[in-house]
Amino acid sequence: MLNIALPKGRLGEKVYAMFEAAGYECPSIKENNRKLIFENTQKQVRYFWVKPSDVSIYVERGAADIGVAGKDILLEYEPNIYELLDLDLGKCRMAVAAPKSFHDDGMRTLRVATKFTNIAARYYAGLGREIDIIKLNGSIEIAPILGLSDVIVDIVETGTTLKENNLEVIAEILPISARLIANKASFKFKSAEIENIMRSMKEQVSKK
Ligand code: PRP
Repeated sequence: MLNIALPKGRLGEKVYAMFEAAGYECPSIKENNRKLIFENTQKQVRYFWVKPSDVSIYVERGAADIGVAGKDILLEYEPNIYELLDLDLGKCRMAVAAPKSFHDDGMRTLRVATKFTNIAARYYAGLGREIDIIKLNGSIEIAPILGLSDVIVDIVETGTTLKENNLEVIAEILPISARLIANKASFKFKSAEIENIMRSMKEQVSKK
């Protein structure tokens, strides 16, 4: 049985469609209910929906053989997994944003609010800039508006959230997209199935 962790939410259905096209369909997953685990015994596959930021935990520990996770999560937590393929889905950027009126004179410690503390720390260390990191878990855009931070480091997709909160991108850190990932032992012991999926997905990506 191949265990596959799918990211619940915006990306999930597109990701499942790619597995389906690779020959690992599981029709019951399309039933509209609140179940989180679905299985097709004939295809020897089991899917489960997990929080996008948890996919790499399931894969790293072998509860899932493969899964799909954002590059943001892989860079932030550096899980011990194999990154197999860029799926060219869920594309966005990791960026620094600030209120339109913000001016950085570079003189004092910069207060940075973010969910991605490691990415932010590495980025500013690379610039040699001293920062004070404020770890938040969501609604990061509020922090500079309320004076909790000077800037934020966050994901920007369409830019709508920034715009509606009078913030703007002041620096791009990295482009982000969804990646197919595998547990290291599974990659060895279930290599035929995993390579099969990888091959099909590569083809699907190139045809997009
Ligand atoms: C992300 C990010 C921004 C938003 C950006 O949040 O933190 O808030 O998307 O998208 P936009 O540029 O298209 O407006 P997400 O919805 O993933 O959830 P979160 O609030 O838990 O971070």
